[in-house]
Amino acid sequence: MFAGQFMMGAQDRLLPPSIPFRFFATAIVFHLAGWAVLLAGADDLSGFMGGLGLGLAGLHLITLGVLAMTAMGAAFQLLPVATSRQLGPNWACRLTWWIYTPGVGVLCLGMATQWMWALHLGGTLVAVGLAVFGVLVGRNLLQVSELPGVTRHAWVALASLAGLAVLGLALIADFQSGFLPDHTSLAAAHAILAGYGFMGSLALGFSYVLVPMFVLSQGVSDRDGRRTATLTALALAVAAIGAALGNGMAAALGGVIGLIAIGLHLRALLAVLETRMRKRLETFFRMVKAAWIMLPVTVLMGLFLALGSSPELTAPLWGWLLVFGWLLTFVTGILQRIMPFLASMHSGANGGKPALMSRLVADRPLLIHAIAHGLAVILVAAGLLAQAPLLVRAGAASGLIGAISFTLFAVELMRRYRAHETANSRHKGPSSC
Ligand code: HEM
Repeated sequence: MFAGQFMMGAQDRLLPPSIPFRFFATAIVFHLAGWAVLLAGADDLSGFMGGLGLGLAGLHLITLGVLAMTAMGAAFQLLPVATSRQLGPNWACRLTWWIYTPGVGVLCLGMATQWMWALHLGGTLVAVGLAVFGVLVGRNLLQVSELPGVTRHAWVALASLAGLAVLGLALIADFQSGFLPDHTSLAAAHAILAGYGFMGSLALGFSYVLVPMFVLSQGVSDRDGRRTATLTALALAVAAIGAALGNGMAAALGGVIGLIAIGLHLRALLAVLETRMRKRLETFFRMVKAAWIMLPVTVLMGLFLALGSSPELTAPLWGWLLVFGWLLTFVTGILQRIMPFLASMHSGANGGKPALMSRLVADRPLLIHAIAHGLAVILVAAGLLAQAPLLVRAGAASGLIGAISFTLFAVELMRRYRAHETANSRHKGPSSC
């Protein structure tokens, strides 16, 4: 399927802009907060082996506040366009945001302060918000028989979402009552289901729509899509169960199956790039490519951890590369493009010329964000490896600079969008009545 075919009739399936953009805007605020908390708790990160504190709070401001938040906004808008099936009602999409957003704030407050009431209340609100999201997406997928690459990866993501939420709530309860047989192993299983399952499988499946759409190219074949979804599901099951049971060999086997799925996925996307019509790829795509390189690196680091090599080094490094090296690089890279893309599609909706995407984008803040983010990933990884808190602190500071620059890009995008719409309404003027 050629990218253009996704876009046919897409205009009719656009949700009111306030739905996807409230998720994107909130993700940008939590992005700032996440890096600021990581900077404040930089000393916690070196040798981080889990447990409550600023490290865990900063981690979940990014995982729940940026990664999952963006995935929800993107899924609500992308699925109706890609599947040509309704997703909603709109009030339920908005309700998801009203439950989930304060939940993330309260949960991370609880993680930072060890206040059990905040951990329980925040965890419950987050789980309910994610459950409503899961039901809305599931209802859309149940109507679809085509696009197996996208739908099967989305089903794998929803199954992982159920698992990560149950484990996450159990880990919270265990801080108070200590009922879990092996807290650390279940935390690792939680991270595998959350990072590779929910976020990872969504990223792989949505790439089969987003990449051809952004580079104007042929899509990925249904056969490749089916294969990577099946192998991803198998890899996740073996790795998560192995980790939960504390069986490193089984977890490692899951990692090896995962590497095969990743190889097939990247081969399919590189073939898409070969046949693309848009030759020049902007900053956002350099971040997407960097994320493609980081993905197998995170699995290799996970293999070292699963096989027991220096867990005090490999455990924090694996978590860091998984969440910041791969997922945050990919998600903020996609956000760099999906926001102006969607704004340009909405512009002119009230009559008048639509805005050119390139006119809505300020390139410099995006470049500063990409460079500062890359530096942050490298400096913190080096600091974790060398157990040097100063390097970790410098990396977190660079991450915060990147987050500020990304915020400036978003503010400028909104300013240009509004200026365009105002000019449009002026041109329309009373004469058009
Ligand atoms: C319902 C939502 C969630 C809840 C309630 C939750 C809760 C928790 C808790 C309590 C821990 C601490 C375990 C410990 O270190 O002792 C934890 C660890 C972790 N979580 Fe979450 N989490 C949630 C969602 C996510 C998501 C969406 C991601 C990633 C995309 C994620 C990634 C991680 C990682 C990487 C760890 C560290 C694991 C380790 O220490 O081995 N979490 N989570």
